Amino acid sequence: MKKINIAVVGVGSFTKALVEGVAFYTKTPNEQRGLMNPLIGNYHVKDINFVAAFDVDERKVGKKLHEAISAGPNVTLKITDPLEYDAMVYRGPTMDSVHDAMRETFIHESKEETVDVAQILRKTKANVVVNLVPSGGNQATHAYAEAALKAGCSFVNCIPTPLASLPEWAKKFEKAGLALVGDDIKSQLGATMLNRILLAFLKMRGIKILKSEQENRGGNADHYNLLYRAKTKEKSKREALTKFLEEGDAKPVVKFFYTGEPSGHKRVNIVIEGEMFGRVPINITSMIEDEISINGAGVLVDAIRVAQLLVDQGRQKEAWKVSPFLMKSPIKPMSDTEAFDLFKKVICKKEPVVTG
Ligand SMILES: NC(=O)c1ccc[n+]([C@@H]2O[C@H](COP(=O)([O-])OP(=O)(O)OC[C@H]3O[C@@H](n4cnc5c(N)ncnc54)[C@H](O)[C@@H]3O)[C@@H](O)[C@H]2O)c1
Repeated sequence: MKKINIAVVGVGSFTKALVEGVAFYTKTPNEQRGLMNPLIGNYHVKDINFVAAFDVDERKVGKKLHEAISAGPNVTLKITDPLEYDAMVYRGPTMDSVHDAMRETFIHESKEETVDVAQILRKTKANVVVNLVPSGGNQATHAYAEAALKAGCSFVNCIPTPLASLPEWAKKFEKAGLALVGDDIKSQLGATMLNRILLAFLKMRGIKILKSEQENRGGNADHYNLLYRAKTKEKSKREALTKFLEEGDAKPVVKFFYTGEPSGHKRVNIVIEGEMFGRVPINITSMIEDEISINGAGVLVDAIRVAQLLVDQGRQKEAWKVSPFLMKSPIKPMSDTEAFDLFKKVICKKEPVVTG
């Protein structure tokens, strides 16, 4: 079976979870528990192969990827020992992706010269580039996407920077025969999804929403960064929640708190208050606790495989159909059930049989 060659941009906690997750399902290829889709086309998780990575932190640059995932402040519950790869971590361009507050706290910026990203992608025969730079790295995201286009790679944008949701970028990738999937990856089972399903359910039952508040608490680098750069993340989450609300319903509020405890554990409290029959109050309080990076990696293994499947079958124009299931801010937002149905249709479609 053909492997999917991956280049990762940003060797943080999420990448650690992704690399260890791929190792887990490679070592136990018959294990299906924990996977949304054991196969996408004929692609199994073990077909994901890491060929290159880019970072800006001196503790990661110059190392092999499987060593760099445990360097610096990276923190997640360990799934298993990673497989060993020849993939190196190259010094990528920093641009706007490192907020001053992150320097010397979470990121020790490397003094090495930056590489030509497109050239490395070509040299390592990467098929798909996965963008996992810190939130707020808008110019950096666009620069890596340009390099991917230049090198003939599909692109999965896991961060809230608008890219796949912009028609001009979607067209550029389509024209090049490549898939662009994004933006802002969902968790396998995340707080925004739970919050959104609860809101949709309340609206279906005629409840007026007086309050919808989501408090996210975590202690990893991403959470610290969000203290300074929550704008696009908040917008992405808020928009994902607003879809089912009507005029007069309270606007959803999303807050981020940094716990200071280095851990991949995240706790989210969701409080919804409403009015039912006779304008009598009804309240829902729920809490979700998870390992944040692992929760995201469970979705990324599908995003990578479906991006490659679309390119293999010349169906890159259908990338917009898979993003709503995988991403918080797709170009065409829809309900979770519509998104699930559409995703299933795309991955179950057979290649046309050529006769004669
Ligand atoms: N479930 C999730 O964890 C989840 C969900 C949605 C989105 N995201 C987003 O995914 C991204 C990665 O999350 P994380 O927890 O791994 O963050 P992290 O802070 O642990 O890792 C980010 C990595 O990117 C590196 N980096 C910074 N600037 C770079 C650049 N210009 N080029 C290459 N590398 C660069 C940093 O040195 C660091 O190693 C964040 O933007 C986060 O908001 C995560």
